[in-house]
Amino acid sequence: MSLQTDASPDLQAVPSAGSGFPSGSGPDSQGPEAYFEHLLAEDSRIEPRDWMPEAYRKTLVRQISQHAHSEIIGMQPEANWITRAPSLKRKSILMAKVQDEAGHGLYLYSAAETLGTPREKMTEDLIAGKARYSSIFNYPTLSWADMGAIGWLVDGAAICNQVPLCRASYGPYGRAMVRVCKEESFHQRQGFEILLELANGTEAQREMAQDAINRWYAPSLMMFGPPDDDSPNSKQSMAWNIKRFSNDELRSRFVGMIVEQVKALGLTLPDDQIRYNEDTKQWEHAPLDWAEFKEVLAGRGPCNAQRLARRREAHENGAWVREAAAAYAAKQSAAQARKTEVA
Ligand SMILES: [Fe+2]
Ligand SMILES: [Fe+2]
Repeated sequence: MSLQTDASPDLQAVPSAGSGFPSGSGPDSQGPEAYFEHLLAEDSRIEPRDWMPEAYRKTLVRQISQHAHSEIIGMQPEANWITRAPSLKRKSILMAKVQDEAGHGLYLYSAAETLGTPREKMTEDLIAGKARYSSIFNYPTLSWADMGAIGWLVDGAAICNQVPLCRASYGPYGRAMVRVCKEESFHQRQGFEILLELANGTEAQREMAQDAINRWYAPSLMMFGPPDDDSPNSKQSMAWNIKRFSNDELRSRFVGMIVEQVKALGLTLPDDQIRYNEDTKQWEHAPLDWAEFKEVLAGRGPCNAQRLARRREAHENGAWVREAAAAYAAKQSAAQARKTEVA
């Protein structure tokens, strides 16, 4: 059995930079709007310098900042177990993983900043409770096995979602995703390995692993977003080459992947309706509780308040670091200006 969830090369291939209009023409000769459409039609990248429709810019800022917030808030459920990891090896792996998530947040905030929205504004929106992030991180981590289930299922779902984003039409977003996906692959493997060890351990460890899978299965399927017929923005995002596959297509792909992998664990998925539909070529699963999804997304999940309070506190505690960094940067640029004057 392979845990390989990296995309095939064609999925990850990064389009070449836009070659521009056919010879003799360019953005100036036919107008920026036509040039934007041309770049999309040839599946090239839109870069920060290029003209783009306001709605495209807004959609990207919303999506990338939500993604960044998810990475940062997503550090909390796992950080909760760093001090209680069962061995030094597990502790160092978990610390590395949580730090990776911080890095993902940073690449993504930087990508969103290239669209003209400052990071301070995005952070303010998050801690004021105005911004959204993935609903999955509002569920509690009750046992060590949750570290395994999160790595395998949550990071696994993130990979399915994010590999196609390596080809997103907006250059800085797609490029950030390439590195993020490589690291997510490691996250997924370490989670699977935790579960494998528990599944081969004592009866109590086995039960703990099964219980974690039972609790994280449905929320991980909901990470792909609402069903296609209830996802009004998807169509436009696909037309803009931001999204490449629909929510249901990605969810089906994920179910097909984990239904095989769980066999290697000797455990089960809490869903007896999984089957491959030969006609639609999609994996089917039991209905999901979308009312619960909407509740959690609206801020009424089990840990929403706790996650935001923790984020707010961390932001306030980090004020001196931001001030020190700004003072240092100002000092450096003043010194540079003096040097230039002397020269
Ligand atoms: Fe991540
Ligand atoms: Fe991850």
